[in-house]
Amino acid sequence: MQTRVDVFEQIFLVFLGLGTLVGVVVVAYTLYNAYKYRDGAAKTSDDDTPVLGELPTGGEGGKKLFLSFGLSAIVVISLVIWTYGMLLYVEDPGDDIPQEDAIEVDVEGDGFAWYFEYENGAETVNTMTVPEDTPVWISVTGGDVWHNFGISDLRVKADAIPGETDETWFMAEEAGDTHTIECFELCGDGHSAMDGTLEVVEEEEFEEFLEDEAPDDDENGDDEEAEDENGDDEANDEENGDDEADEENGDDEADDDENGDDEDDEEEETEDENDEEDDGGDD
Ligand code: CUA
Repeated sequence: MQTRVDVFEQIFLVFLGLGTLVGVVVVAYTLYNAYKYRDGAAKTSDDDTPVLGELPTGGEGGKKLFLSFGLSAIVVISLVIWTYGMLLYVEDPGDDIPQEDAIEVDVEGDGFAWYFEYENGAETVNTMTVPEDTPVWISVTGGDVWHNFGISDLRVKADAIPGETDETWFMAEEAGDTHTIECFELCGDGHSAMDGTLEVVEEEEFEEFLEDEAPDDDENGDDEEAEDENGDDEANDEENGDDEADEENGDDEADDDENGDDEDDEEEETEDENDEEDDGGDD
């Protein structure tokens, strides 16, 4: 069983190892030739000495070229295929991780905070609690603008986009560990403060947490939250309407400057007023 951390660690090490190997060979061969053909050296064979303005003759009929291209192709193509396979595993590990133990958490980034909802309806803000050694599947979305849910330590990164759901998974191995949750999409003036904490706990502690936070304990609080959400939505609608109206007005002003055509402008202004009234009616 491999976590995301293991997978990306492997990819990094393989690339580092192969990169170093190829680098050592290339640099060593370059230095070897620079030394062999150095100025003032006694010439051992006139045949394979490069001459300025002539193609080198030491290529043995293209064998060296073929060998170097062939080796490069093998290395690059194998790397691409292998890495692709590893990333497919990251996308969907299937039965390679114990899915029957997995938990699901809904994540929403909204107004520079992270909202978490667990399978039993328990809700938390900015602090996510998960059991150790358990696959956690997250469904990530955004409430207001584009955010991006990220836990660097665990190699987690998922778009949080209004109207869309991005699913991914991770596993945290050590109970007692905490990991920083960050937003990886520039989303506004609270972006850099849009942090949260992932708390890794033991299985039993997680069950207790779920019971404590279960929604039945606190029905009134939930109702209030629901109302707040509606309020937010209305506010968003208004904002969107205003933005559109602003953009249109901006365009009109530009048109004014360019054309100086009074009749058209009057018509467009009338349309704008109608648009604004429409927006008000929807709210
Ligand atoms: Cu949310 Cu950046």
